[in-house]
Amino acid sequence: MSKTIIISNRLPVQLQISDGGLSAIPSVGGLATGMKSVHSGGESLWIGWSGLTDEEIPESLENEIDKALENHGCSKVRLTENDVEGFYFGFSNRTIWPLFHYFLEYSEFELDFWNTYKVVNQKFADAILEQAGDEDIIWVHDYQLMLVPQMVKEKRPNTSIGFFLHIPFPSYEIFRTLPWREEVLQGLLGSDLIGFHTYDYERHFLSSVRRLLGLDVSFNDIYLDNRVIKVDSFPMGIDYKKFRDAAVAHEERKENNKSDLQQKLDNHKASAPDTKLILSIDRLDYSKGIAKRLNAFEYFLNKYPEYKEKVRLIILAVPSRSNVPQYQLLKREIDELVGRINGELSTVNWTPIWYFYRSLPFENLIDLYTSSDIAWLTPLRDGMNLVAKEYVATRTDKTGVLILSEMAGSAYEMNEALLINPNNFEQQADTLKNAITMPKEEQMARNMFLQKRLERYNVEVWANEFMNALHKKSDVEDVNISRKLSPSLTQEVIEDYGKAKNRLLFLDYDGTLTGFHKDPQKASPDEELYELLDKINSQENTTLFLISGRDKQTFTKWFLHKKYNMIVEHGVWISKEGEEFKLLEKVKDQWMEKIRPVLESFVDRTPGSFIEEKNYSMAWHYRNTDPDFGQKRATELNTVLTSLIGNDDISVLNGNKVMEVKSSNVNKGRASVRMLGEADYDFVFAIGDDWTDEFMFQELPESAITVKVGLQKTQAKYHVESTKRVRELLNQFAQI
Ligand code: ADP
Ligand code: G6P
Repeated sequence: MSKTIIISNRLPVQLQISDGGLSAIPSVGGLATGMKSVHSGGESLWIGWSGLTDEEIPESLENEIDKALENHGCSKVRLTENDVEGFYFGFSNRTIWPLFHYFLEYSEFELDFWNTYKVVNQKFADAILEQAGDEDIIWVHDYQLMLVPQMVKEKRPNTSIGFFLHIPFPSYEIFRTLPWREEVLQGLLGSDLIGFHTYDYERHFLSSVRRLLGLDVSFNDIYLDNRVIKVDSFPMGIDYKKFRDAAVAHEERKENNKSDLQQKLDNHKASAPDTKLILSIDRLDYSKGIAKRLNAFEYFLNKYPEYKEKVRLIILAVPSRSNVPQYQLLKREIDELVGRINGELSTVNWTPIWYFYRSLPFENLIDLYTSSDIAWLTPLRDGMNLVAKEYVATRTDKTGVLILSEMAGSAYEMNEALLINPNNFEQQADTLKNAITMPKEEQMARNMFLQKRLERYNVEVWANEFMNALHKKSDVEDVNISRKLSPSLTQEVIEDYGKAKNRLLFLDYDGTLTGFHKDPQKASPDEELYELLDKINSQENTTLFLISGRDKQTFTKWFLHKKYNMIVEHGVWISKEGEEFKLLEKVKDQWMEKIRPVLESFVDRTPGSFIEEKNYSMAWHYRNTDPDFGQKRATELNTVLTSLIGNDDISVLNGNKVMEVKSSNVNKGRASVRMLGEADYDFVFAIGDDWTDEFMFQELPESAITVKVGLQKTQAKYHVESTKRVRELLNQFAQI
C-alpha cells in the first residue's frame, strides 16, 4: 500500500539527552504542530532531523533513538554539528528566513552556508530515496528543504512530489537579491505541486519563476520541459477539535486538577476582577514584532492612562534559534524593554507586563488561551500565524477579542478579527481600547463566524485539499487537447513515413527546429540542423518546406544555397529548390505607414521590445521585456491595433512573445493547403510551436500528422515537449 512521506527539518518531537537518558519533547512552530495532526491520522512516515547532532549521539543510544522516533512514526536524517551550523543556523535562518520575511538587512549571503545547505538537502533527499517506495507520495515542507524536490525528481521522475512553504514567499524585488535564486527556484520546481498559505505568496513565486527562469506560466501552471507544475494556495488550518476539546475539558476540571499556572491566573482574576488580560504568544523571533508590541503597549498606557492597573499584558516568548546572533540581540532587547516598561509604570498593586521566556506544555497554553480576554498578535511578517486561530478555537463561550496584524497570512481569512498595522501605534492604542470595551455580543458575533470557518477548514481539510490536488497533478493531456507523441506513437509515424509513396513536410523554424534567442538574428541554423535537413530533403519522394514568419532576406541568407523549399512571412513569399523568392499571395502594404508609429510608441514605452519590419508585415517582439509588463503591453497593443485596423484586410497574430500585424489573407494554413494541392501526397506532416502554426493544424486535412512543440493548448493531433525532441524525430525520418 502506498504511504505519504512527510519531510521537514523539524520532526514533531525533539530528542534530548539528559543524565545519559533520552527524552522527547514536542516541537513548537506552526509546521510541526499543524502537521502533527495530519501525521497521526493516516498512513505516513515523517522524515526529519531528531534535534541531536551525530556528535551528540553516543553509539549506545543509537537504537534507542531510532525506536523512540519509530514510536512517533518518524525516521531521522543524520546531521553533523557542522551541517546544523551551516544549514540550519546558517542558510536557513540567517539567509532565507530574514530574506523571505523582508528583513533584507539581516540576510547574510555566505557561500559556505549555501554549500552546506546543498549538502544537507541532498542528505534529506537521500533519506527519502532510501525509504520511499515507487507508489509513495512525497510531501516536502518548508524553506529549509527547497532543493529536495528536484533532487528526488531527478532520481524518481514518476514519483508525486508536493512542496509546501510555511513562510511568506517575498516579492520578486526582494527574492532577486539572493545570489542563488535560480537554483532555489529550480529546486522547488522538482515538485508536481507547490503550495503556499496565501494567494500573494503564490503570485510572488510565479512572478519570480517567470522573470528569473523565463518559463511559461499560464494561470497557476508552470510549463517546464515535459512537465506541468501546479502552484496553488492552501491556507493552513488548525486541529480545531483538539483545541476545542482541550478547552472544554479544561473548564470541567476540578479545582485540585488545575495547573499551577491556572490557579495563579484564577487568583489574579479573583483579586482584580475588572482587570483585562491581554495575551501574546510567539516564538522569540524578530518577525513577530514583539519589541514593537511592547512599545505600542507603553504608548497605549500613556495615551489612555485610565487603563493603568486595569490591563495586564502576558507575553509568552518561546526560545527559538538561540545560536543566531539576531535572536540573541532580540532576546536582550526584549528583556531590557520589559524591564524598563515595568520599572517605569508598575505600582504597588500592578505590574503591566508578565513576561515568560520558555516553552510551556500544551495544557498551559490552553490555560493562557482560555483565561485571556484579548489575544494581541502583531507580527511584522508571518507566513500564517496559527496562534491566532488557536486562541479563537479555545473560546468555548465565544467571548474574547483577537487583535491581529494585517501582515500575518491568517489575517486574510480572519476578517472578523480587529486587524491592525503593527507599525501604527495610534491605531493599535485605539484598537486595544476598542477591544477592552467591546460588548460581549459583538465579541460573540465576531467569534461565531471565525469559529465556523476554523472548524470547517481545519488542518485535516487543508492536508486533504493539498493531497487531492497532488493526486490530480496535471497530466499534460488534461490541459492540452493533443496527445503526447509517445515512443509507440512515434514508431507508428515512422512506419507510415517509411511506407509513404509521396511525402510532404512543413517545418516551422523558431521554437521548432531551433530554440529562441534574445536576438532573432542570432538564432541561425547550426551544422547539425543543416545535415539533418539535407538528409531529409534528398530523400526520394519527399517535399520538405521550411515554413516561417521570418523575412525573406534572412532565410535567403541561411537556406537558399541549400535549395530547401521555403515559405516565409507566414505565406507571402515562396522559394522552391533554390530559386529566388516569389510572391505567393497578393498583399497590400499601404497600411504599414499607419501602424508603424503605433508600434514605435510601444517600443518607446516598453523597454526591451523592438520592431521587426518585414516586406509585408510588422512584428513587435517582447521576449526581452519584463514578462508581466510585456504581457500587459501586448494586451494593450492588441486593443489599440484591433480598433485601428477596423475592417481593413489586415489582422493581428499573437505569436510566442511577438505580435505580428499582417494581411489577413496570408497565413501558414492557407499556404500549406495550396502546396498540398500541387501533388498527390499520402503522408502530410506539419510541426510548429506557436499560434501562427495553429492555422496549419486547423486547415490541413484530418489525415495529416500535426505536431505541436510545447505543452500549450493546440489544434494539433500530437505534441512533443522540446526542440530536442523535434530533432530526434526528424533524425528518425532521416534514417529511413
Ligand atoms: P511559527 O510557526 O512562526 O512559530 P505559528 O503561530 O504559526 O508561528 O505557530 C506556533 C505554534 O507553536 C502554534 O501551533 C502554537 O500552539 C505552538 N506553540 C507556541 N508556543 C508554544 C509553547 N510555549 N509551547 C508549546 N507550543 C507552543
Ligand atoms: C516556522 C517555520 C518552521 C519551523 C518553526 C520553528 O513555523 O515555518 O519550519 O519549524 O518556525 O522554528 P525552528 O527553527 O525551531 O524549527
